[in-house]
Amino acid sequence: MKYFLDSAKIDEIREAYDTFGIDGVTTNPKHIMDSGESFYTVIAQIADFVKERGIEGWDKFPVSVEINPHFDNADDMVEMGKKIAAMCKNFVIKIPCTEAGIAAARRLEKDGVRTNLTLVFTPSQALIAAKNSSLFVSPFIGWKENGGEDCVDYIQDIVDIYSNYGYYGKTEIICAAVRTGKQIVDCAVAGADIVTAGLQVYKDSFYHPFTDYGLARFQNAWDNTITTE
Ligand code: E4P
Repeated sequence: MKYFLDSAKIDEIREAYDTFGIDGVTTNPKHIMDSGESFYTVIAQIADFVKERGIEGWDKFPVSVEINPHFDNADDMVEMGKKIAAMCKNFVIKIPCTEAGIAAARRLEKDGVRTNLTLVFTPSQALIAAKNSSLFVSPFIGWKENGGEDCVDYIQDIVDIYSNYGYYGKTEIICAAVRTGKQIVDCAVAGADIVTAGLQVYKDSFYHPFTDYGLARFQNAWDNTITTE
């Protein structure tokens, strides 16, 4: 399963890539705001980063960039999507799963611009993304589970529907707004292609107190053993 970093902070992107090899990045308007930089500054930083690391191209290291969320017609969405996509080969255009967004994603994909249909909360929304050949679909997990829903069946249904109709692996499922290691595992068990989460979520998921406990025991053993040659 691929791990994407859900962030627009260039320091976090560098750290996650260099330490545990994230496979891509997802941004949204809130992440861009949180970076403290302007929209075009942030995406230029990410474009420079992929050049520096020699990972140019959406097939090597996709970076989802969301269009202006105020747009409510497909023409504006397509125009901005094409402008952003032309700035860097890694950029995948993130579009909301509304009627206008679905139409815009369909047109962009036909014109060779890869898309990520986002703000997806039901399997029927995920199905329309695949029918129109979006590269990615982003069903949100954390928001639903924060509200008391269990997302295991939700993700499993999307995986099963995609498998039934040959979409599995063509439109890749990015489980989004993932908040815990348990949710990462749930998505992996269901067969989701990708999770996207913040840096701290991944760091917490790598941690186990028994690892530290075991390390302390082995350090003690080492210290009480002759280890010189
Ligand atoms: C997904 O692609 C979104 O960027 C993201 O997961 C949204 O959730 P959050 O900002 O609440 O984490």
